[in-house]
Amino acid sequence: MDSRNRPVVAVVDGRFVSEGAGVRIRRTIGSPELDMLDPFLLLDEFKSDSADDYLAGFPDHPHRGFETVTYMLAGNMQHRDHMGNQGDLGPGSVQWMTAGRGIIHSEMPRQERGLMWGFQLWVNLPSDDKMCEPRYQDIPPDAVPDVALDGGGKVRVLAGQFGDVQGAVSGIATSPTYLHVELPAGGAFEHALPSTHNAVAYIFDGGGAIGEGGEGDKLSAGKLAVLGDGDTLHARAGEQGMQFLLLAGRPLAEPVARYGPFVMNTRDEIMQAVRDYQQGKLLG
Ligand code: CO
Repeated sequence: MDSRNRPVVAVVDGRFVSEGAGVRIRRTIGSPELDMLDPFLLLDEFKSDSADDYLAGFPDHPHRGFETVTYMLAGNMQHRDHMGNQGDLGPGSVQWMTAGRGIIHSEMPRQERGLMWGFQLWVNLPSDDKMCEPRYQDIPPDAVPDVALDGGGKVRVLAGQFGDVQGAVSGIATSPTYLHVELPAGGAFEHALPSTHNAVAYIFDGGGAIGEGGEGDKLSAGKLAVLGDGDTLHARAGEQGMQFLLLAGRPLAEPVARYGPFVMNTRDEIMQAVRDYQQGKLLG
């Protein structure tokens, strides 16, 4: 069967917002332009070498009903939760947190100067899993497989599969792909993506072309390309080279009710989550 290239059907320009106790971040999914792309609920990039932009961190806050994925490129954050789990998120590490019925945690910078750079992705859980026991996959940098590309560049396989290389994170309900692709000037990339999965590419360094022709011709850092139907993605870096995240996931096609850090199926379940949190019963 011929492969069909996935075209770019929309481009979302990241907008700057303030989160946590005043951390400056750039948001694409979960913004007015793109509320969600099932199963992805939010995509934030935080990047600053000005301590004022990140020092306040993300003090204690709850989550219920979905997963948060933190991927660090530079800097150090310390993660702590209500169960006493504690971990360091350093450059190249990834934390896939399945909040399930409830997690209360904080993510605070472990540095007072220097560059802090990374991403947080929110992935929805199917209704059957929303109240599951919380679970972490904390992956240190050297446990994320690196695949060298012919013609230069590399791919870090955080989740999903690239060629015959299995990603570091496994057992996720939406069978996600999460790749960090790094291409040198003029470098090319091709990857088969299940046509059943929604997919996006988020460019965060340099620029180039995503898909073939159309809107994805010349994209630069801070742009999110939403991919249309097909089963293969092509990309080519411009003269600055290009780095992007390639995210794909199985859509859940379930109703979504969201309110801040709670993502459920119905308004009643959201109100229950708020009550549980206020009464100290979020965690069961
Ligand atoms: Co959080």
